[in-house]
Amino acid sequence: MEHKPDEQKPLDACGPADRKHDDFVLGTIGAAVNELTSQFTAAALDTPRLDARILVGHVTDLQPSLLFARPDQALSAAEATAIRTLGARRLAREPVSRILGHREFWGLDFELNEATLDPRPDTESVVSAALALKDRLPEPAHVLDLGTGTGCILIAILSDWATARGIGIDREPRAVQAAQANAARLGVGSRAQFREGNWCEGLVDIFDLIVSNPPYIGEDEANSLAPEIGFDPRAALFAGADGLGAYKALIPSAKPRLSTAGRLILEIGVTQENAVEALLNKAGMTVEVRVPDLSGRVRALVARSG
Ligand SMILES: C[S@@+](CC[C@H](N)C(=O)[O-])C[C@H]1O[C@@H](n2cnc3c(N)ncnc32)[C@H](O)[C@@H]1O
Repeated sequence: MEHKPDEQKPLDACGPADRKHDDFVLGTIGAAVNELTSQFTAAALDTPRLDARILVGHVTDLQPSLLFARPDQALSAAEATAIRTLGARRLAREPVSRILGHREFWGLDFELNEATLDPRPDTESVVSAALALKDRLPEPAHVLDLGTGTGCILIAILSDWATARGIGIDREPRAVQAAQANAARLGVGSRAQFREGNWCEGLVDIFDLIVSNPPYIGEDEANSLAPEIGFDPRAALFAGADGLGAYKALIPSAKPRLSTAGRLILEIGVTQENAVEALLNKAGMTVEVRVPDLSGRVRALVARSG
C-alpha cells in the first residue's frame, strides 16, 4: 500500500514538530498514552489510564515502568496504527485481557482463546479454599476441575501443591487445548490432564477434591450485563433461565466421583447461596465452609458427602 505521510493524522497534536523527523514517526509514547486515556475517560471506562498504558506498552513492547521513563520515545507509523486499532477495540468495550490474549490469575499468566472464559479474580477464592484443605486430604491428592476453561483453577492449585495431580474437563475442545497449553507453559503439564467431556460423564476415577466454576448467569440477566462480558463465550456464562442449570447437572454427576473424605468446591453467584445449598442437600451433601469475597458476600461453597 502506498505510504502517504501527509494524509496521516499525528497521534498527538501536542507532539513537537521536530519529532516527526521521518515518515514513520507520528507521535510519542507519552502522547499516545494521553490520547488513549482521554478517549477512554470520555467513554467512561473504569480504568482509563491503566488501560491506555497497558495497550501502549503492549504495542511498544515496554513494561509499564519504562513507559513512564520514556514519554518522549517516538512511535513508528506501524506502532501508531496498532495503538489506534487497539484503542478502538477497547472503546468497543473489549476487555484489555481479551485484546492482549492473556490474563493474570493467581500470579500466573494464562492464555485465552475464543472458547475460554476470561478468568476473574473472584475465582481465586476457589483456589484458596482448595489449598486450605491441603493438610486434610490424602497424599497425593487427586483433583478434578469441571468446566476448566483456561485451566486456571486446576493449574493454580497444582502450582502451589507440588504433590497434587488432576484432570480438567470442558465440553469445548478449544478450551481443552488452551488449558493443555497453559499447563505445559506454567510447568504443571506432567501432573495435569485435560479432556473434552460433559461434567463427569464417562469418568471412572475417584477424586479427593472436585472444584468448579460453572456457568451460573441466568438467561434473564443477559441484557443487564456489562458490555465487556459479551466478549466471553456464551457457553461459559449462561445456565438456563435461573442460572442454576449447570449446578443441577453437575452436583449429582460429581458426588459419586468423590472419595469418602473428599470435598466439592463450587463458585456461586452472589444471590445463589441458598439455592445451591439446597441442590447440594438434595444430592446428599452438606455445606461445610462458606467462602466470602472481599465485600463479605459468599462466593464459594465447600461441601462434603453426608
Ligand atoms: C464460568 S466458565 C469457567 C472457566 C474456568 N474454570 C474459570 O474459572 O475461568 C465455565 C466453563 O464450563 C464449561 N462447561 C459448560 N457446560 C459444560 C458441561 N456440560 N461439561 C463440561 N464443561 C462445561 C464452559 O465451556 C466453560 O469453560
